[in-house]
Amino acid sequence: MMNVLVTGGAGYIGSHTVVELINAGYEPIVVDDLSNAKEDVIDRIEIITGKRPVFYKVDCKDKEAMRKVFSDNKIDSVIHFAAYKAVGESVRIPLEYYRNNIDSTLTLMEVMEEFGCKKFVFSSSATVYGPNNPYPYKEDMKAIESSSPYGWTKVMIERILTDYVTAHPDYCAILLRYFNPIGSHESGLLGDDPNGIPNNLMPYISRVAAGQLEKLTIYGDDYPTPDGTCQRDYLHVVDLAIGHLKALEYAENKEGVEAINLGTGNGVSVMELVHAFDKANDMELPYVIGPRRDGDLPAFWADAEKAKTLLGWEATHSVEDMCRSAWKFAKKASEK
Ligand code: UD1
Repeated sequence: MMNVLVTGGAGYIGSHTVVELINAGYEPIVVDDLSNAKEDVIDRIEIITGKRPVFYKVDCKDKEAMRKVFSDNKIDSVIHFAAYKAVGESVRIPLEYYRNNIDSTLTLMEVMEEFGCKKFVFSSSATVYGPNNPYPYKEDMKAIESSSPYGWTKVMIERILTDYVTAHPDYCAILLRYFNPIGSHESGLLGDDPNGIPNNLMPYISRVAAGQLEKLTIYGDDYPTPDGTCQRDYLHVVDLAIGHLKALEYAENKEGVEAINLGTGNGVSVMELVHAFDKANDMELPYVIGPRRDGDLPAFWADAEKAKTLLGWEATHSVEDMCRSAWKFAKKASEK
């Protein structure tokens, strides 16, 4: 069976992907420095799947430690999630973001080269389409700018992988451009549990629902959208995780670089998401309308056709599923 190195495998998207990998018979090897994740995620993966993945508490920038991971295990392919990901924080401490996200990718790629590993699935983001493309975003649009240092690290790493493939045509790099992943594994054991006050919408909603924060502030209701609030392409994290398995299967017999959107292809507004959360969980979330947040785009969503044709992947969960599962996890987490 295929051994897959999953960097950042204890994180939100990484942990859900590890579960789906195990369920599909892969052997995931998890590397995570636990800078934004907890080790008990590995226990939870074991509870869900009945199998404990090999785990290394290692920073991907640590070349010696990464060499050991590669020499202990015959690694066939890599899914690289490990990165800092808070947009606002990246504006305040850009050097940390560039150093961490780019260095870890370069170190990982160098070690892969030493060990002859040629399959790379990269955790990219729709943020690479920048502020100027019309939506829905298509993979053949220019994706060469972003609106935050976090986003720029994604643009730059996509570039690095593309240049590497030019020099090494037998390498395969899949750039998965995620839209807005939300929701949790149905067990309620895994989910998005950021440190501190959440920046992203669903973790914030969950904390309000749990009574840990007073109310949601909706950032602006005067956008040129149907109800005035921003529209995004929210997708269930389990759908997203399965997209990674499809990308691995695709990469197995392919060479070259391929950018692929992972989204539903539908725009949902902040207001619609709040109402869906209320309906799915039978509650009334307190909210107020506040000013716009700097840097937010009014609307964007994916053109999801390429993932369908190339990978045979399509999102299947509804917005209600996303809201129900997000709350199941957050409720459990808040009761601890
Ligand atoms: C951002 C990043 C994206 C990153 C993602 C996950 C950009 C352009 N996008 O997406 O690259 O992958 O975070 O980290 O930088 N909202 C509220 N109130 C809140 C929080 C959010 O109304 O308290 C609204 C926002 O205005 C936005 C929507 O909810 O319209 C989603 O926000 P968020 O979850 O932060 O994701 P994005 O900004 O879309």
